Amino acid sequence: MQTTAKRSATTEDDITNEVLRRFEATPDPRLRQLMLSLVRHLHAFVKEVELTEAEWLAAIRFLTDAGHMCDDKRQEFILLSDTLGVSMVVDLINHRKPEGATESTVFGPFHRDGAPELPPGGNIAPRDTKGTPAIISGRVLDLLGRPIAGALLDVWQADSTGRYDSQYAETSELHMRGRFRTDADGRFLIRTVRPVYYAIPTDGPAGRMLHATKRHPWRPAHVHFVVSADGYEPVTTHLFDDVDPYLDSDTVFAVKDSLICTFLRHDTREDAADRLGIDPPFCTAQFDFVLKPARPVV
Ligand code: BEZ
Ligand code: FE
Repeated sequence: MQTTAKRSATTEDDITNEVLRRFEATPDPRLRQLMLSLVRHLHAFVKEVELTEAEWLAAIRFLTDAGHMCDDKRQEFILLSDTLGVSMVVDLINHRKPEGATESTVFGPFHRDGAPELPPGGNIAPRDTKGTPAIISGRVLDLLGRPIAGALLDVWQADSTGRYDSQYAETSELHMRGRFRTDADGRFLIRTVRPVYYAIPTDGPAGRMLHATKRHPWRPAHVHFVVSADGYEPVTTHLFDDVDPYLDSDTVFAVKDSLICTFLRHDTREDAADRLGIDPPFCTAQFDFVLKPARPVV
């Protein structure tokens, strides 16, 4: 006959210790480390704030709502990670760049595959007739300042109303996106419109969290880039407009000083713009991307 050992009253720490004990034998050492640390921090949080049952249920509902918001155009968990600053901490841990290399920042939820490859000076904003025309030019270089020919720049941005193409219900057409290759001198030339600040989507749990905590949803004006070349580590980054009012309070914490650049306004004709058929007023921005060598495959 089986006897039951006499059990003493269970404390909060007993539960934490027993949960930790059950993960002790996890064979994969990294998974073991992640699970043990997750349980320790999660339990410490619950104990520190003395979570009520109503708050626990609200949290479950909040995460359930986040899941229901997700589809192939919307990723509410990434928005939550971004607005809680987790994405940027992960970015900083994973992309410690040597001095001089272009810094990375969040990827965001609005990248789409299949952007057209455009020639130098190609326009990613052909349907945006309201925005201020802008020319972004520069070079892709290695750490020694040597040009990288044939580097690929995957570029995307919101239009002059602050919306990405995927946020228009009526069309799934790609817009405000393009891929450009550098020439033999590592140069690129992109025609677009000046980026504007915009609010991240606030119609889901991330928006409710911002509203309840009196945080604003704005991102400073920026253009997204993934710059890649054979033999180099790709960099996922943005260029930010240096006059933007939200540079110091980006709702996803993604601004790095080295990524802020000037969008210079021109009110008179200039040859370079004339060649692209751009009348004043227009803006020009210049930025050199610097890639570090790819990590050797071991
Ligand atoms: C974006 O810049 O596209 C973005 C990044 C994080 C959250 C929402 C939007
Ligand atoms: Fe963006």
